[in-house]
Amino acid sequence: MQNMLITGGCGFIGANFIRYLLTESDFKGRIVNVDKLTYAGNPENLADIENDFENRYVFIKDDICDGIRMNEIFENYAIDSICHFAAESHVDRSIVQPDAFIQTNIVGTFNLLEAARSRQSQITRFHHISTDEVYGSLGQEGYFTETTPYKPNSPYSASKASSDHLMRAYYKTYGLPMTISNCSNNYGPYQFPEKLIPLMILNGFEGTSLPVYGDGRNVRDWLYVTDHCKAIWTIMKHGKTGEVYNVGGDNEMENITIVEMICDILDEINKLSDHRPRRELITFVKDRPGHDRRYAIDFTKLNRELDWTPEASFETGIRDTIEWYLANRKWVERVKSGEYQDWIKAHY
Ligand code: NAD
Ligand code: TYD
Repeated sequence: MQNMLITGGCGFIGANFIRYLLTESDFKGRIVNVDKLTYAGNPENLADIENDFENRYVFIKDDICDGIRMNEIFENYAIDSICHFAAESHVDRSIVQPDAFIQTNIVGTFNLLEAARSRQSQITRFHHISTDEVYGSLGQEGYFTETTPYKPNSPYSASKASSDHLMRAYYKTYGLPMTISNCSNNYGPYQFPEKLIPLMILNGFEGTSLPVYGDGRNVRDWLYVTDHCKAIWTIMKHGKTGEVYNVGGDNEMENITIVEMICDILDEINKLSDHRPRRELITFVKDRPGHDRRYAIDFTKLNRELDWTPEASFETGIRDTIEWYLANRKWVERVKSGEYQDWIKAHY
């Protein structure tokens, strides 16, 4: 893997992955990061990387929905491996406006697969980042395994399921050397503050309302983003072609428990001016349509076959995440105001 195409590298997990590959892993090649810079993509996340790794990091502002451009990029940069993060990723947005999810998540993935297929002898690995949400919703018992049937419930998860199926088809039909990872909910630095954890941290810090959907008892499995990055790199290096690996944190929690935990840690760090406990900010709001009740991941395969296990505990990870958001108020303000979009226009 000398010339790795990373798509969506300016988003939350992609930026953490690029940082991990260049500063912590044994990866020795060059990264070509292709990102459209939607509202969720912020090249400032990698401004230091752009400086420090001038010879090993290239950023290209482009859209994976443009098949011609994808072909040119594969050709111009002699791409030999792909790690595909680019996606529309927020379930609530997919409910309101699904179009972009169909385009980017399905058509975009198809374009990358076609570009890879047309020079298949040069491609050593095409890794696709997917989600546990493709499996649908669990009751109180049980776990998703790699053989759980797909049953996506939101336009987001349906579009990710489609892209997973395309990956599989390109392996079965053309022998494209692909792997897929289906991961649970990530948290950590650089996550856009529309998702549960950063939203609650920032609203809680400001002392504004904390909107919890439904009864707050929906369960997600949470994984610290660096652990996900390590899993991806392990799979890219050692995963068997054509295989799917589930990635999870062994850390199932009800939403309300997480929100209360964030409230308590924030109170510990900095009390509200009127000394009210932040738990009083919690407001139960109308439920999300089609809201999946519970996700839980069985990652035995990844653990047994590739010796991966999550390292960060939730207690430590959530504290580190809260501290990161409080220490990076400028980043937060710029991202929330959309101000960085002006910066993007000026720079790219
Ligand atoms: P994100 O929304 O933070 O980032 C997505 C990135 O993709 C952004 O930088 C955006 O600009 C870019 N992008 C969007 N459309 C594009 C297009 N047409 N062309 C090029 N770039 C485009 O998402 P994330 O949370 O970092 O998720 C990354 C991947 O991981 C996604 O595929 C997602 O489905 C998957 N995933 C996320 C989670 C999670 O908890 N966040 C869990 C499991 C899987
Ligand atoms: P989210 O971070 O959007 O991830 P996903 O829907 O992909 O799992 O939401 C995590 C959980 O938190 C989910 O059950 C919905 C819930 N949620 C709220 O209760 N309030 C909120 O404001 C948000 C954004 C999410």
